[in-house]
Amino acid sequence: MGKDVIVACDFASKEQTLAFLDKFQDVKPYVKIGMELFYAEGPAIVNEIKARGHKIFLDLKLHDIPNTVKKAMSVLSHLNVDMCNLHAGGTINMMKAALEGLTREDGTRPLLIAVTQLTSTDQESMERDLLIREPIDKVVEHYALNAKRAGLDGVVCSPLESKKVHSACGNDFLTVTPGVRFAGGEKGDQKRVMTPSEAREIGSDYIVMGRPITAAEDPVSAYKEAVRQFVGE
Ligand code: C5P
Repeated sequence: MGKDVIVACDFASKEQTLAFLDKFQDVKPYVKIGMELFYAEGPAIVNEIKARGHKIFLDLKLHDIPNTVKKAMSVLSHLNVDMCNLHAGGTINMMKAALEGLTREDGTRPLLIAVTQLTSTDQESMERDLLIREPIDKVVEHYALNAKRAGLDGVVCSPLESKKVHSACGNDFLTVTPGVRFAGGEKGDQKRVMTPSEAREIGSDYIVMGRPITAAEDPVSAYKEAVRQFVGE
């Protein structure tokens, strides 16, 4: 499975997103479209970016009853995205239903990965609000194993959790890791960060980088530097 750098296009409109992507002429980065942009612009933005030659990770984090998620995934499968995701907290049955919905008639489907516990959830809020009393790293590992049992391709996790997930679920189970920063760069609101080279060393399969590329003075150079460090090209 090829390693890649995914650029989080956390923009509020089509105009801003396309103006950003226009800067990339000779390279076409893998793009992450999140809820903000998708809810603002709808499926048309996916088609437009896809038509420009980008791969797309549609980050909508589905979580509902299995039947609803299955039907929603079936709609997404026709959008021709390359990767999409859901919350592992929806249970193994929900994840299995999602895979069924996502699989097209010809047997092909986008990659499907799970969010374990959000990185905004800490031990204290998990115990207090969700009544989950196990250590959070055990919970992340357990949810990753559930995703694997359901047949999913991997999880979104902190780069610090990549090794643990790979040793529990196998090296071919994908880890997609945000929280990546260039050495000496602004951390923003990310607390625990790694550089692209470190993420490569610990075995992340994909890194997701937003502001270090989108807010860079020269986004194309920043992207190429991330690829050089992470993929080694
Ligand atoms: O700008 P930055 O590099 O922090 O962007 C990281 C991207 O990854 C954002 O789109 C953010 O929503 C997403 N993400 C994250 N942490 C998670 C899950 C997703 O930062 N645990």
